This record gives sequence, C-alpha cells and structure tokens, in this order.
Amino acid sequence: MDQSPALSAPPDSTTLQHEADLPASPWPLFEQWWAQRVQVPAQEADAVVLATVDDAGRPSARVVLLRQHDAAGLVFFTNYESRKGVELAANPAAALLCYWDGLARQIRIEGQVERLAAPVSDAYFAGRPRASQIGAWASAQSQPIADRAALAHAVAEADARFRDRPVPRPPHWGGLRLRPDAFEFWQGRQARLHDRIRYERVAADWHRQRLSP
Ligand SMILES: Cc1cc2nc3c(=O)[nH]c(=O)nc-3n(C[C@H](O)[C@H](O)[C@H](O)COP(=O)(O)O)c2cc1C
Repeated sequence: MDQSPALSAPPDSTTLQHEADLPASPWPLFEQWWAQRVQVPAQEADAVVLATVDDAGRPSARVVLLRQHDAAGLVFFTNYESRKGVELAANPAAALLCYWDGLARQIRIEGQVERLAAPVSDAYFAGRPRASQIGAWASAQSQPIADRAALAHAVAEADARFRDRPVPRPPHWGGLRLRPDAFEFWQGRQARLHDRIRYERVAADWHRQRLSP
C-alpha cells in the first residue's frame, strides 16, 4: 500500500514550485502557511511538536501549543521544571515541527531556546482561565505523583491559598522562545516528488536551498 500522505491540493498549488517565487527570508512563508493551517480541520490548530535533547544526548519530543510568533521567534508556555524545561536549561538547542495532514505540509524549525522576560510571562499568565492558573501551581509537571487523588489535593490546596485574590504566576512557569536558525518547508506532491526548501541563518541573512525529496 502507498504510505504517502494524503496529497490534497494545497491552498496555493504552486507553492514552493518556482525558485523565483520564494522569499529571501523564511518568515513570510511561515506566516502564510501558519495562517493557512486553519483551512483544514484540526482539534488543536496551534499544536506543534517540540523536540529537546538532554545533557546525555537523549532526545525527547512532545506536543505544545504555539502561542505567539514574530521575527524574534516562536513562543510556547510551560513549566520550567518539567522534563523539557530541565533539558532546555542544560541544552537550549531544540526543534519544532508543524504537520498538517490535510495540506500535505510540514515545517521543520531548529534553533536555540530562551526564557521570555518575566513581565511578558506574567501578562500571558494573567490572561489564562483561573482553573489553568491554579493547575500551574498544583502540578509539578513531569514529576511522579502517587495517584489522581494527590493531584486533586494539590489543586484544592492551591485554590484555597489564592482564594479571593488574583493567582500570581508561579516562578517555575512561563514562556520559552525558540529563535530559529533553520526552517524547512515541505510540500507533499504526487509520486513522492515533494518540494523541500531549507533556509539557514547566516549572520544577518538567510541562505536558501532546495533539497531532494
Ligand atoms: C494538544 C496538546 C497541547 C499541549 N500543549 C502544551 C503546552 O502548551 N505546554 C506544555 O507544557 N505542555 C503541553 N502539552 C503537554 C505536553 O505534550 C507534555 O505532556 C508536557 O508538557 C510534559 O512534557 P515533558 O515531560 O517532556 O516536559 C500539550 C499536549 C497536547 C497533546
């Protein structure tokens, strides 16, 4: 059986086909594809895969929600003491992967991760639902817990602690920004003749190459 992804027509069927149409920087292409992701149904349109590597060289990957992006980088929020948080503190090199089945597209992004400034994380945290804020205090993300009741107990405790006042951001929770130094845009095509365009950061510029599928 052919294992190639469903090759439905992308919103712009000529995307990535002609060198003359490719931007010098990957950002306009990222913006365009990110905007077009909602043209196909998805449960979590903002979900991306984040891959990290620990200090012994062991990789791990998980889904996070991409919450902000601009020329400075791509931002997600998490617990700084989680497995990913600890791995990134030791080794800030990371990769993000976007995959849209219905568009036969993926974007591979690599770079270095840094923490957002505390006031930026404060502002984002303040806008979250109270239950999520309480959860951020209650969950020592990635640590073992005895059972589900222990989690419920930690939630009740945090709820009581912040009763009748705004929930402050926990110091161990906040935003991380991946500053990309490489992007690869992949558009699935018939007969495995896919388009792959890789951009690499070289000083202040981007170097662009087409890769064999
Ligand atoms: C759709 C989806 C969205 C998620 N979004 C986030 C997120 O934005 N931040 C986060 O820390 N974990 C998120 N998670 C949970 C992570 O995948 C993961 O379980 C958690 O962060 C712990 O990972 P770690 O032990 O590698 O640190 C999400 C999971 C799914 C399936």
